[in-house]
Amino acid sequence: KILIVDFGSQVTQLIARRVREEGVYSEIVPYQKAEEAFAAMRPKGVILSGGPASVLEPGAPLPPRSLYDAGVPILGICYGEQAMAHQLGGEVEAGHHREFGRAEVQVTDECQLLDGIWTVGEKYPVWMSHGDRVTKVPAGFRAVGTSPNAPISIIADETRHFYGTQFHLEVMHTPHGALLLRNFVRKVAGCQGDWTMRTFKEEAIDKLRAQIGDGKVICGLSGGVDSAVAAVLLHEAIGNQLTCVFVDHGLLRRGEAKRVITMFRGHYNIPLVHVQAREQFLQALDGVTDPESKRKIIGKAFVELFEEEAKKIGGAEFLAQGTLYPDVIESVSATGGPSVTIKSHHNVGGLPERMNMKLVEPLRELFKDEVRALGRELGLPDVFVGRHPFPGPGLAIRCPGEITAEKLEILRYADEIYIEEIRRAGLYDDIWQAFAVLLPVKTVGVMGDGRTYDYVVALRAVTSTDGMTADFYPFDMKFLGHAATRIINEVKGVNRVVYDVTSKPPGTIEWE
Ligand code: XMP
Repeated sequence: KILIVDFGSQVTQLIARRVREEGVYSEIVPYQKAEEAFAAMRPKGVILSGGPASVLEPGAPLPPRSLYDAGVPILGICYGEQAMAHQLGGEVEAGHHREFGRAEVQVTDECQLLDGIWTVGEKYPVWMSHGDRVTKVPAGFRAVGTSPNAPISIIADETRHFYGTQFHLEVMHTPHGALLLRNFVRKVAGCQGDWTMRTFKEEAIDKLRAQIGDGKVICGLSGGVDSAVAAVLLHEAIGNQLTCVFVDHGLLRRGEAKRVITMFRGHYNIPLVHVQAREQFLQALDGVTDPESKRKIIGKAFVELFEEEAKKIGGAEFLAQGTLYPDVIESVSATGGPSVTIKSHHNVGGLPERMNMKLVEPLRELFKDEVRALGRELGLPDVFVGRHPFPGPGLAIRCPGEITAEKLEILRYADEIYIEEIRRAGLYDDIWQAFAVLLPVKTVGVMGDGRTYDYVVALRAVTSTDGMTADFYPFDMKFLGHAATRIINEVKGVNRVVYDVTSKPPGTIEWE
């Protein structure tokens, strides 16, 4: 087991994910809870995450000193390295050059962390994101790597098995990062590597049973993979204490409602309440154009409906959601954490502060591909598990500007054609997510002999492994031309189609 102490980096969960990929169980705890978590977990190693703070500021978040006396290996990454250096008697200096992005580290000495992966004298690409840097190694440590902007880039104390890297080794942009983490987890900390998704499932089921006891749970289904996996997992854990609620908020794709109901009622025999609430949501969203307001309104309306349904089924005290880690991290400051809010996802930050139900979020630590693996482990059909993600607020955030029933209908139709064409071209599984966006802009066109003045549809398709970063999908022009022609010919109200070629960052995947 590995304990990951979080200082608020946007990529802390990637550390956990890499550790899991090594077949080793890991848990993330905020730094304030590190001491008790350590005592409860008795990990074989500790990793200190990066974070936005500076150890030089008064009141900077620091790991408890007891961690250093516990006799277990520690790896500090970026801020974690600086915190370790600072606490153990080294020196940290405020960076005059902030350094973000690609850099090169030259290895200057051997150590177990680099063993078999990096050779002394060689240079390797890494990903940096820091302001401060270590300028003097603490007693007992050696500097073993250097880079132009961080002369002390890797530190090692081989007696205590403490290591620190200024760069982030958990991100894909540090090509050998996963191997270095493997070294830490396997060689330095001596973990076995026998943890699997089946283990996750069993542990999750135990935790759910402990959390819920004989309480009743309602689980919101969105039609997407996450909520379905959460529901099936819960059903395995607590059987008929679970009722699923499927809210048709009128912001779904064509045919979605029917698919969900057939699968849950027909295939799984899980009790399902189908709430028709189109009017209610459309009214609440009437005239609203601000994306964050849309998300919050939808989140609030959802919870109100769930609370009503919970009462009807005899007092469910738990609300289960398929929240994933990227949802958590991107809206975490909305819930008081140390990172910055990008969007308040409706199944996290969009929830009202006062809610009468307790949240159950069994997928909170997972990334999408891990949820898919869990779904397969739970026996969900491949076609379902392989579906592109669909956001809780649905088409509302794919319809920038005011939302009307008419616009939604246009969007649904265009989206259906686009996805149909993607499937027909055999590209669906190469793409992480594809969808149409209806822009609140009308442009002039000519069709037949007449002038048109209609909406613009933007097509979006991205590749990604976890939704945290993404590239636009490089369709060939023929495909795009064909999809555009079909949409313009078949969807009344649209006379122009554009393709979005923005990556994330700087864009996000959804437009709102
Ligand atoms: P962004 O647009 O933030 O999206 O780059 C990253 C991934 O998250 C999905 N997404 C959501 N999922 N509730 C959800 O369940 C939400 O409020 C939400 N907002 C975005 C998005 O579709 C993409 O897969």
